[in-house]
Amino acid sequence: MAFPATRLRRLRRTGALRSMVRETWLTPENFVYPLFVCPGDGVRKEVRSMPGVFNLSVDETVKEAREAHSLGVPALILFGLPEKKDEVASGAWDENGIVQRAARAIKAEVPEMVVIGDVCLCEYMSHGHCGVVRSSHGPRSVGAAAREASVVAVKRGGVAKAADAAAAKLAQQPEYEIVNDATLELLAKTSVSLARAGVDVIAPSDMMDGRVGAIRKALDEARFENTPILSYAAKFSSAFYGPFREAADSAPQFGDRRSYQMDGANIREAMREIALDIEEGADMVMVKPAMPYLDVIAAARERFDVPIAAYQVSGEYAMIEAAARNNWIDRDRVILESLTSIRRAGASVIVTYHAKEAARLLS
Ligand code: PBG
Repeated sequence: MAFPATRLRRLRRTGALRSMVRETWLTPENFVYPLFVCPGDGVRKEVRSMPGVFNLSVDETVKEAREAHSLGVPALILFGLPEKKDEVASGAWDENGIVQRAARAIKAEVPEMVVIGDVCLCEYMSHGHCGVVRSSHGPRSVGAAAREASVVAVKRGGVAKAADAAAAKLAQQPEYEIVNDATLELLAKTSVSLARAGVDVIAPSDMMDGRVGAIRKALDEARFENTPILSYAAKFSSAFYGPFREAADSAPQFGDRRSYQMDGANIREAMREIALDIEEGADMVMVKPAMPYLDVIAAARERFDVPIAAYQVSGEYAMIEAAARNNWIDRDRVILESLTSIRRAGASVIVTYHAKEAARLLS
């Protein structure tokens, strides 16, 4: 039946009608609030590129947890800024590490709060990569690289440029490697140590192959068979993480994360990542970032029956805050609209720096 019998505007006439037929509801029950825990006492230091987000000492973290809880935010995810960094990420698995201490304090003071532990090594490694780094020499010989580069240069019409191109090609060869299997041991160790400190959910965000299986096994062996895993299954190598790296002081000191985080162009590969993590024992899976990858969330929702989480990352937050500060957008409405879009795409759990603010707006 078409117009004039059908008039979709009839159900948009009043607020009561609109909410009666609303398809997607946002409630704080799905929110996870990220916190950055730092050493010291009474520290509350604002992150320059994330106004409203702070580095918090353990005592301040507890205060923040209490406030979030009182607003109806049920869960936190914790990131740590350790006192010192090294090549084996000691701060990540130290029984007295910064996140372990914060978790114990939060569970003692606000026991109902669900504490999620982000498991990654980048914040604790001196080089800022998510895994163990070993220097490597490219698998190809110098001659092969030069030959390949000169073919390219000749195709472009400049034999003279061949030498330059060969040099450039060699420069592109990574001299280091993020070692997968050696990293798994550290991730497993970190997970067990977090579970011992009272962390309720283990959330690996490193993107090493096989880490969910390794973590599940280690947790089970340590009798944490009831501790769920929320895996950052489809984590894309994204420029939207920029402000986080300032907040967590975790920018890689050389190179980038493209050899382990996913290429943003790939949705089929994202489905494979998710399928593998579920097979290895993930109880929930995450897509990250959120708004630039809503199609990935929707596809995952269609295809898999585990709860889907989405991470509205630091860059998404920073863009909203920056535009709002210029009065270019209506901040409150944009916060709720962006979170609604993530829910509508199919995420049940949403990690967002706006958790407290959104809970306030929804009350
Ligand atoms: C750790 C990690 C990152 C984020 C969450 N866990 C950064 C990264 O991969 O570089 C990003 C979160 C955000 O941008 O808000 N690996």
